[in-house]
Amino acid sequence: MQNISQFISNNLFHHKDLAGYFEPVMQVIKPAWRSGFFRSQVKGIRVLSENALKITLKPEKKWPIHTAGQHISLTIEQQGRLISRVFTIASGAKKLKETGLIDLVIRTHDKGNFTPYLGELAMNSWVNISEPMGEFIFDEQSNHTTFLAGGSGITPFIAMLDDLQENTQKHIHLLYYAKPNSHLMVDVLEKFLIRLPNFSFELLNRSQHGSFSKFVSIEHTDELLVCGPEEMYVEAEEFCKSRHIPFRAEHFQAIKPTKSLNEAARFTVKLNHGDLEVSNQDSLLSEFQSHNKPVMYGCGMGICHQCQCLKKKGIVRDIRDGSLSDNSEELIQLCVTQAVTDLELEL
Ligand code: FES
Repeated sequence: MQNISQFISNNLFHHKDLAGYFEPVMQVIKPAWRSGFFRSQVKGIRVLSENALKITLKPEKKWPIHTAGQHISLTIEQQGRLISRVFTIASGAKKLKETGLIDLVIRTHDKGNFTPYLGELAMNSWVNISEPMGEFIFDEQSNHTTFLAGGSGITPFIAMLDDLQENTQKHIHLLYYAKPNSHLMVDVLEKFLIRLPNFSFELLNRSQHGSFSKFVSIEHTDELLVCGPEEMYVEAEEFCKSRHIPFRAEHFQAIKPTKSLNEAARFTVKLNHGDLEVSNQDSLLSEFQSHNKPVMYGCGMGICHQCQCLKKKGIVRDIRDGSLSDNSEELIQLCVTQAVTDLELEL
């Protein structure tokens, strides 16, 4: 039966599944309903600082409960285009169970092609989120843990502390690096000091305090957890290896185009089944067709979304306005997109 439905979807409706074909109809009744995604309603937007926002979301009931430290992909619609970025959830599973809400704390960039739109989200409007993802979670066995956070890398630690019981015996010391006076959620950290007797933290900045290494107490660290920029991750990895301290990290690596955008180049597209080499001179849809890859499409102009697929990694250019994506997960339309780096796609 499932095969018949799949056959009809693919051949009659040009969609991966029947639900996808009925998406526009469903959206009249349920705004932002999308096949394969979870709906989530905006329940709060708070400006934390000049360039940081806290967004509170109420995921639909069937959303799986996350574990503190995990992240989601957030998708919003902007001028008919779906754009997504990955964010760590900045609240614990306990809060979700009690209130049905999760928090995201997001650094905004004026010139970015995602975060400037977040401030425009209306209260009670709908967005899409993925299921919770990631393995960066707290080891229950560890008694003395050092958390090392950089910038918005504080968010998974907030979620982990949020979920700790008042009577926990765990000793946690947080080293939090950010530019002077731009540490996020310090008020929340101060509340944890009252609630969790064995918790402490230091607010540090690179120019004044230098490397984190002199702030880590080796005898009081069973494990180091790191979330921050690439350089912090590399330094922490070396530090832990040389001192035999278990180490776990979450970091988001910035990938930049390796070729000039005007220069003709070929890139590898990793697909669910096998790889493909494409040129950066034509749309991904045309490239796929020229390789006889079966691919769904309709208008060929970026309107119908039938050629939509999930980009897991890599940078693409939108042919319509030349804008570049970033390296994170995002829904793209193959007919109006060109490769700018190697890509990983889920068709
Ligand atoms: S085929 Fe219609 S949006 Fe790509």
